Amino acid sequence: MTQLTRRRFNHALLGTAASLWVPQAGRAATAEPLVARPARARLAPAEYPETDVWAYGGTVPGPVLRVPQGARIARRFVNELPQPSSVHWHGIRIDNAMDGVPGVTQDAVAPGDGFLYDFTVPDAGTYWYHPHNRSWEQMARGLYGALVVEEPEAAPPVDLDEVLLIDDWRLTDDAQIAGGFGNLHDRAHAGRIGNWITVNGDGAWSREVGRFARLRLRLANTANARIFALETRGLEGWVVALDGMPLAAPEPLKRVTLAPAQRADLIVDVTAEDGVEALLVSFERDGGYALASFPVRGVARTARRPDPAALPPNKLPDLGPLDQARRVDLLMEGGAMGRMQAAMLDGRMTEMRDLAAVGKTWALGGMADMPEAPLIEAARGETIRIAMTNDTAWPHAMHLHGHHFRQILTDGSTGPLRDTLLMDRGEIAEIAFVADNPGDWLLHCHMLEHSAAGMMTWLRVA
Ligand code: C2O
Ligand code: CU
Repeated sequence: MTQLTRRRFNHALLGTAASLWVPQAGRAATAEPLVARPARARLAPAEYPETDVWAYGGTVPGPVLRVPQGARIARRFVNELPQPSSVHWHGIRIDNAMDGVPGVTQDAVAPGDGFLYDFTVPDAGTYWYHPHNRSWEQMARGLYGALVVEEPEAAPPVDLDEVLLIDDWRLTDDAQIAGGFGNLHDRAHAGRIGNWITVNGDGAWSREVGRFARLRLRLANTANARIFALETRGLEGWVVALDGMPLAAPEPLKRVTLAPAQRADLIVDVTAEDGVEALLVSFERDGGYALASFPVRGVARTARRPDPAALPPNKLPDLGPLDQARRVDLLMEGGAMGRMQAAMLDGRMTEMRDLAAVGKTWALGGMADMPEAPLIEAARGETIRIAMTNDTAWPHAMHLHGHHFRQILTDGSTGPLRDTLLMDRGEIAEIAFVADNPGDWLLHCHMLEHSAAGMMTWLRVA
């Protein structure tokens, strides 16, 4: 009986969350609009009621958009929510006008209105989409989905390619989404941390696999603020990409830390024995929790495949000589237990108490609201270095729009390409990128209550 229920459950899941939208290569897909609207989802176990959510296409997550590299995506967003919204295509080096940031690249889309997003995807990899208006509320209510861009040439062969969007929800006792979005306590502390974790909107996500099958798992942290420390059991392999971008060489998989908005592509082999469950495990303060299970049924092959090659690299410009690059400092300050006394708000130096009264608890470069002038104005093609100092008692996930960057490590070497960098309390980190994408681009903390409360700035590429 349990088996039957579980099997039916999985089947239903395939019909919804995993539904694919595959355009033909070479021409824009005339796809159905992407409608954001209130819906109901089964986030919690069967003994609880369904949860009222806001969702793209009526499902949590929204549809997986899967397109070939270089494809054009033309998709009309329709807002059937009770408040204005927009769609941001996170990690895509996109045309600025399509970046989905109200007040910067477009007007917010009013309830009942629509907006045509029309752009090409330059890079293969794992990306995602989410609202960029009141995101601390809209994403907490369930608005997000995956955008997978397929490599043109054969990537290392796998038997199964799964997107796993990991989210945490703050639910009430009857499994409804708790209110209090963007409250001052969440803003000043770790952000909205939930009490219920799902993978693809399912608290017990599961997929049957054969022993020695090779899986590509595309993990993304879609939570407002929770940082996940992930390990696998019975799945052995490599990290092959971070934030969409292939690593130069696959790295043996041990623990993957995902800050909000970060992604990791894994290639793993099922090494658990037939009849056992392989697991994706999240380590919390009080121990490990299985987020997703892979029950092993039978044998896919007799032994593991040979080690995979690296994914084909995306074509990004070289950083060039870093000692000649322009460098700007960015101080991150504020929050509970911080040292910040005051920051600029509306062009006036404002004391912490008065900042908090209007929901501002953080500052970037001394500014507690979106500055009128950009942090930096870059010439197109110029290499820019941003040295960030996290002078707060909290970790932050710094995200740059429209570009991928590399961290400059203390020995002068550079880290992997990323679009979101996790910075620990007290950490100093310097990033470098080629500002080759013209337009106005945000740089902000992806802990959504933090960006709402002042951790947001922008830069201009001429
Ligand atoms: Cu995914 Cu400005 O964010
Ligand atoms: Cu933050």
